[in-house]
Amino acid sequence: MEKQFFYEIEGNAKSQEALLLGETIFHNANGYIGIRGAYEEGYPPEYISIRGQYINGFYDITDMKQAEALCGLIEKKQTMLNIADTQSVEIWLGGEQFSLFYGTAKEVKRSVDLKKGVTLRKIAWVSPEGKEISLQFRRMTSFVKLPLFLQEITLTCHNYEGEVCLISSHFGEAENFCDPSDPRVAGEKTQYLFADTPHCQGDISLILAKTSRSGLSLCSGVAHAVPAGFEKQTVVKDKKAVHKITGKSVKGKTLRFYKYSWFSDSIRCGNPEEETEKKLKKVMMQPVEELYGEQEEYLSDYWEKSNLEIEGDEELNSAVHYNQYALLQSVGKDCYSNMAAKGLSGEGYEGHFFWDTEMYALPCFTITRPEIAKTLISFRYRTLNQAKENARKLGHKRGALYPWRTINGEECSGYFPSGTAAYHISGDIAYSVAAYYLATNDVEFLCEQGAEILLETARLWVDMGNYVDGQFHIQDVTGPDEYTCMVNNNYYTNLLAKYNLEWAEKCKELLMAEGKWEALSKKINLLPEEIEEFKKAAENMYLTYDEALDINPQDDSFLKKKKWDFTNTPKENYPLLLHYHPLALYRKQVCKQADTVLAHFILEDYQKLSTIRNSFLYYEGVTTHDSSLSTCIFSIMAAKLGMVEKAYDYFGESAKLDLFNTHKNTKDGIHTANMAGNYMAIIYGFAGLRIKESGLYLSPCIPDRWKSYQFRFQYRGTRLEVKVDKEGCRIHRLEGKPVEIHLHGSPVLVEDDIRLYKRQEDK
Ligand code: BGC
Repeated sequence: MEKQFFYEIEGNAKSQEALLLGETIFHNANGYIGIRGAYEEGYPPEYISIRGQYINGFYDITDMKQAEALCGLIEKKQTMLNIADTQSVEIWLGGEQFSLFYGTAKEVKRSVDLKKGVTLRKIAWVSPEGKEISLQFRRMTSFVKLPLFLQEITLTCHNYEGEVCLISSHFGEAENFCDPSDPRVAGEKTQYLFADTPHCQGDISLILAKTSRSGLSLCSGVAHAVPAGFEKQTVVKDKKAVHKITGKSVKGKTLRFYKYSWFSDSIRCGNPEEETEKKLKKVMMQPVEELYGEQEEYLSDYWEKSNLEIEGDEELNSAVHYNQYALLQSVGKDCYSNMAAKGLSGEGYEGHFFWDTEMYALPCFTITRPEIAKTLISFRYRTLNQAKENARKLGHKRGALYPWRTINGEECSGYFPSGTAAYHISGDIAYSVAAYYLATNDVEFLCEQGAEILLETARLWVDMGNYVDGQFHIQDVTGPDEYTCMVNNNYYTNLLAKYNLEWAEKCKELLMAEGKWEALSKKINLLPEEIEEFKKAAENMYLTYDEALDINPQDDSFLKKKKWDFTNTPKENYPLLLHYHPLALYRKQVCKQADTVLAHFILEDYQKLSTIRNSFLYYEGVTTHDSSLSTCIFSIMAAKLGMVEKAYDYFGESAKLDLFNTHKNTKDGIHTANMAGNYMAIIYGFAGLRIKESGLYLSPCIPDRWKSYQFRFQYRGTRLEVKVDKEGCRIHRLEGKPVEIHLHGSPVLVEDDIRLYKRQEDK
């Protein structure tokens, strides 16, 4: 399996759009640090660069100005910080500075190697005075040593002998990017980090920087390894440490330089400065080849467990591999962090964590790297107290309302109609606890953390809902579709609330069997009658249904609204949110993204198939997919409903979203939920995987264009490989106990190999 993906900037390394896109696509990250792929040598001043470096979970606080300061509105928010610039290196050959904007670039290739976990920039360049050089920049953020960012610069001078000088800088007070014209990125420029004067320990520079309000600090350290004969000198200028590396080039001889950056923060360690110095010195003792080797080994395990191949569609196959890799780069690896909407690749949505994690990323990790899924839920457990406080602020006497967007667990959404009102976030988190448990059978985790989340979120629904003619209603909430806000009985929210309440009741039995129920109910003061309340609300949950259309209306009022005038909406007016007042959207039948259709995917047994089909067709007609979270879900549901070619089209759109910049905002970062959704579109879509209380389900189908596809996943400790082609499918047990699968509805035991050959047209 040759997992390699090359993405070349189309012959034009000087286009502003390509530069910003390249910074995102070629970012390096490992779930802890993220470095945008800016050029080491920089760009001329007239070019915009989002030259960012970020740490997952590291933030500052700023004021959120509310013109009409109504009671309880958010007054401050968190922002992920651009922490420092350690990536800059100027290269001087005699008096000439290397830059792709001068001289002649004969070859410029950028790539990301998904097996080795490095990005590469290969250049053949002739200076204005005729010096011919080859350069290669290799960068790695280590998956094994999370605080390490390593840059390797390889320089060969073909016809030049003389002085070579590298000016490598370490700057401690980088600023965040802002764009006042786009609501999806920060609108104001604010200084967040204040750095001390750099402190040099031999040729190591250390900069301690403190946030202005969150009370956090971070130390970045930089050091170099240089070829024999080269000298290092470090000069401190204000908040910057400049490392000057000088020596001579010999014609045709390759010179190799290494720049090490290390980061420690006060969230995760007691003394960031001491830690950085100690660890940086230590890592520099380790041979670089070993560091690269560790990275490759880590990835080989990842690909081994989550291998996915499509035969007959090279372009989309590569895109899916890139997406899988980017997800691994984005996802937090400890309980202090999570997965931001843009991962660690840019500043869109200010580094906030959304429901994207639970409903998009988690279904991928539970079946490939369950320990990552568990860590993601642990983040929500760690922030449960803030969710309870948030519920109190909103007037609830009981329960936990998780924030719509956050870094530290507190709500950051300034626009509550499509933020705080999205109560489904609590249902999503509860759903993810149940989904993780069903996929892993990890009852210990349920007892320690999961059950408490399920019970506190269940309490919220009971507190906020009310009975109307015996049915349980949930008023004034916003579902996933942000073009329809503050509605009563959003189908998605009510269904998830029902599921949440059912699972709160179920976990009582599960915990009782483990002897853990007493202690937990005591800890959270759960009264016996509360379980009865959960049961009653779940049983009587009102779910919208329109008999004439045989669909689930998105909410009580949705079908009473006029349809959006799609015919007279010019193409350039999409996404609608950038061109129309929110109220103009709320009053019409128009959806930004999958809402009811998503509910039908995750909880398909709560509705009859005809309703699911009719709803899909209905919502397809009114959905703009202005959100990147949408097409993947439509793909999954089209596959379920037998519309395989339609599923393929939706899948293709979602696969290419970032690599082809189809939403025109990839410069602000990748769309992690879409990437995860794209992976889901194969496994949960074409292959029809479902994990339910009644077991494991697969109903594979295959698009015309593909010869075959295969993937690996795990379920309750058993690892399986599934291969689907035009003739049928084969399931192979790789590891673990034999497992029963409902294949196209019939139970089969996978002891070793199962082959089910069935021609497409027979289905
Ligand atoms: C979507 C949300 C999503 C957010 C972050 C918005 O455009 O509508 O559902 O959580 O982006 O990805």
